[in-house]
Amino acid sequence: MPNTIPSTSALSATSPLNQFVFRQLNNWLDQPLNLIAAPADLNWQELAITFANAKQPLQVWTNDWRSFNAAQTAGISSFFTAGQAPTNLAGRSLMFWPKAKEEGYWWLQQLATLPHQDVLLAGESNGGINALAKQLKNTGVAVGKLDTARRCALYALDSLAPASQLITDNAPQQTQVPQQTQTGQGVQTQWSGPEDLTLISQPGVFSHGRVDEGSAFFIKTLTQQPHIKTGQLLDIGCGCGLLGAWLIKKYPSLQLTAADVSGFALNATRATLGINQLNGKAVAADIFTGLAEHAPAQGFDLIISNPPFHTGKATDYELASRLISQAPQFLRKGGEIWIVANRFLPYADFLQQAFHNVTLVAETGKFRVYKAIRG
Ligand SMILES: C[S@@+](CC[C@H](N)C(=O)[O-])C[C@H]1O[C@@H](n2cnc3c(N)ncnc32)[C@H](O)[C@@H]1O
Repeated sequence: MPNTIPSTSALSATSPLNQFVFRQLNNWLDQPLNLIAAPADLNWQELAITFANAKQPLQVWTNDWRSFNAAQTAGISSFFTAGQAPTNLAGRSLMFWPKAKEEGYWWLQQLATLPHQDVLLAGESNGGINALAKQLKNTGVAVGKLDTARRCALYALDSLAPASQLITDNAPQQTQVPQQTQTGQGVQTQWSGPEDLTLISQPGVFSHGRVDEGSAFFIKTLTQQPHIKTGQLLDIGCGCGLLGAWLIKKYPSLQLTAADVSGFALNATRATLGINQLNGKAVAADIFTGLAEHAPAQGFDLIISNPPFHTGKATDYELASRLISQAPQFLRKGGEIWIVANRFLPYADFLQQAFHNVTLVAETGKFRVYKAIRG
């Protein structure tokens, strides 16, 4: 049967990097392919069909639950973090160089420890792919440029071994996390907050090694203002677990579900809960997608979030907008959602559209904390 190669039109909606990578696909159908740090918006159905036709296994390693979910939905075997990844890699590995460099080095470190034949590296020029290739070359790795277009480049490496020092120097430092957390590793960060909470995370997790100013203001506000203190708590975009862990430590009759799209963040949250001897679930979700099975039947009593956003583009409000518009479905009647945000973000409008009862609880020159109650 002829192999089905995705047409360019079928890929027009995906990123320049994905289109760039797909045009090479024909060359990679002779053996199993491992996709490392694959973006969520790959054309997964096409990939699954193509590799099934070529009778080659395709597997995906990712730290991003969206890619994991998309790959699994398409029937591709996938691993959410390296902790769950195969210990022996057959075939070829294609790594997408991520925007967060520490994360990229972390994946390279995982790859370097596994037996594999060859490694392909794809990335965008403004994401540092060419600089990385140069660095690898300087360490003695044989690096060959295979293709370049759409401000993207593809390199083939013969082996990562000569670059092991470079990779180790740049990869996140790792320390052992207490046994009971059953997580990966993280750099331990001590923060003496009101409850003397210990935080654990690794580079690549939001506000690693510090406490975000907005989150600190949120905590201060929650200390001073009346809010629900018992029942089911949901922390969306939990990062290292700071907000949820702090709340359940202060109000032990709250039961925590902490959610994040990042596997590194979930590992960090589990570690933070473990080291503080707190109970709670850390679950993978894309805002509310994936949370239904973890939600209490009557809905959560309290939802808290320092929502993810990126400056620059209007579409960057999509996550917060989705969070706020879907929150009423996940809250019990009378349940509350509390959100902290930079004051320039249009979250008050989103909240007014989804809830009748919205209060601006506290503000500084930079941040606002809002509360909305489900009627
Ligand atoms: C502003 S940080 C807040 C982290 C933590 N709550 C704190 O206050 O330090 C936002 C978090 O949202 C996560 N995130 C990004 N996109 C997401 C999505 N689609 N669904 C769930 N979480 C997401 C990020 O990984 C990050 O941990």
